[in-house]
Amino acid sequence: MNETWIKEAYQAGLPEDFHGGVKWQSPSNIALVKYWGKKGVQLPQNPSVSFTLSQCRTETAIFYEKSDRFGLHFRFDGREQPAFQKKISDFLLAQAAFFPFIQQLDFHITSHNTFPHSSGIASSASSMSALVLCLLDIERMAKGESEIDLKKASYFSRLASGSACRSLFPKMALWGACKAVPGSSDEYAVSLQDRIAPVFQTYHDSILLVSDAQKAVSSRAGHALMETNPYASTRYAVANDNTLALLEALRTGDLAAFMHIVESEAMQLHALMMCSDPSFVLMKPNTLKIIEALKEFRSETDIPVCFTLDAGPNVHLLYPDADAEIVERFIMDELERYCVGGQWIADRVGEGASRC
Ligand code: PMV
Repeated sequence: MNETWIKEAYQAGLPEDFHGGVKWQSPSNIALVKYWGKKGVQLPQNPSVSFTLSQCRTETAIFYEKSDRFGLHFRFDGREQPAFQKKISDFLLAQAAFFPFIQQLDFHITSHNTFPHSSGIASSASSMSALVLCLLDIERMAKGESEIDLKKASYFSRLASGSACRSLFPKMALWGACKAVPGSSDEYAVSLQDRIAPVFQTYHDSILLVSDAQKAVSSRAGHALMETNPYASTRYAVANDNTLALLEALRTGDLAAFMHIVESEAMQLHALMMCSDPSFVLMKPNTLKIIEALKEFRSETDIPVCFTLDAGPNVHLLYPDADAEIVERFIMDELERYCVGGQWIADRVGEGASRC
């Protein structure tokens, strides 16, 4: 990695009265080609491609003041959260080699998710990318620079939580070196906004909440299980092929190819977990009922709606805006009954992270 920000940390001491506040929002994202398996320091075994969401976001504010040592006061939704405070503290201190000013600041961090905490929606992508953007904004002010570098924000978001590196960019992102996209890298994500047909810019993601239980297996443990998974090398080869095929479908607007690859990726992610040792079944009976009902609806109507799954039982329905009315009617009439408390989140492709 050649970037100057990796080679030369900003070492200057902070002025005695250095203090202020920054606030960023960053969205969650849903992977279409899945990242499952890592190597080295948070590097992916294969490229991944995601839609950036808009409704499921974290908003994080940091007030900071010069101090003789690092200090952290963290509140989530107005309350202390010791487990999350530790995760943030560990991350910030681990980055002090790159951001020495961390050791000279007292941080007061408040954070809030726009989606229910118990919804099973991965919040580490949105929360860790929002945190990193705040950190880079503080550095920007210390250096007197005008803007922060999104590539750098993606790099440090990756170190905080792999898939977080994809959340920053409008519409879609690719994380992982891929020969079809010059400038793509295992170390940070890049925007795909200019490489996708207009229809994909309009996509909806209706997130059907099948369960609100905590994840049965953390993604850290899940990635580690790939090290002994007998199908790992085949999976990485297929994921590379799927990335290239998906990029082509995104470019040409080929919805049939898009749906085929996206659903195959969702099933592969869950199949990998089922044949890990120990194995996990993360789908619930209602996950399968939704998938069956969706397939029937699609064959009857020819509406280009498909599903994907994250590492859990919830189902993401993906479809173009032109079909939103009929798909949402189908969700309300046929699928809400499979959702916990009838809940689903009407999300759609969004604009990425921003100051707020
Ligand atoms: O970023 P992590 O370590 O939480 O892993 C994310 C893994 C998946 O959500 C299952 C897939 C992905 O690419 O987002």
